[in-house]
Amino acid sequence: MTTSRQDVSLGMPQLPATPYPAEVRARLDADAEEVLARYPGSRSALLPLLHLVQSEEGYVSRTGIAFCAETLDLTTAEVTAVSTFYSMYRRRPSGDYQVGVCTNTLCAVMGGDAIFDTLKEHLGVGNNETTEDGKVTLEHIECNAACDFAPVVMVNWEFFDNQTPESATQLVDDLIAGRTVEPTRGAPLCSYKDTARILAGFPDERPGAVEATGGAGPASLIGLKLAKGEALPKARVVSPRAGQPQDGPPDAQVHDPSPTERLSSHDAPQQTSASDPEHPAGPAAEEGE
Ligand code: FES
Repeated sequence: MTTSRQDVSLGMPQLPATPYPAEVRARLDADAEEVLARYPGSRSALLPLLHLVQSEEGYVSRTGIAFCAETLDLTTAEVTAVSTFYSMYRRRPSGDYQVGVCTNTLCAVMGGDAIFDTLKEHLGVGNNETTEDGKVTLEHIECNAACDFAPVVMVNWEFFDNQTPESATQLVDDLIAGRTVEPTRGAPLCSYKDTARILAGFPDERPGAVEATGGAGPASLIGLKLAKGEALPKARVVSPRAGQPQDGPPDAQVHDPSPTERLSSHDAPQQTSASDPEHPAGPAAEEGE
């Protein structure tokens, strides 16, 4: 079987990209100027500029790539390489709500895989696919540093913690029906395009949104409290290796090192040639020497 030249796709974009309408271009030029002013070198502004073009169309189109390249004096290949490296940039038109289910290890075993399978079935879409009404795009996401609230679902990068298949189903039903949903923590939910503009570095002007961003949640702070001695557990588990049972309070018998005294295997002092005169550093002796 022969294949004509026209049948062969090398996966390359068809150029040139359609330019933005003049009014859109003027607005983006003004925004880009503001972004560029934050950086000593213009190419450092590429990531926020990609968010900026994403805020215009909801994804990084070929037009957006050409705009970034022209603005930063880069090639479209360079811009494409960056935009395809980072998972926060979408390369095709998608839904109003990007529903990302963390299926990284911890979330997966805590129920993330079950949530993803349930949503896939409920919405009738697969990974990176959008519902027919254009409302929801479902996707696997990697760890979002919220493992202490696993399993985590993110909608337009806002956290919905400790989800179950049932709560996640209710969440997407509410999104599709246009009902208000509140993230578990952080700023209120906004549209994907508005989120992209905030990620480009423009202020979130919704009343109370910045204040709501807050800090880490209680589950994230437990370790810090333990390290500061503010939340030492009342009962202490003593390993059988710690010795024979002893009278009196355990703390009077066995010194329990504080977290700052307790070295991890990475922190423990290593035997080096400097601390081990029996085995000085230097070239290995040849046999017979
Ligand atoms: S594994 Fe899901 S947030 Fe870390």
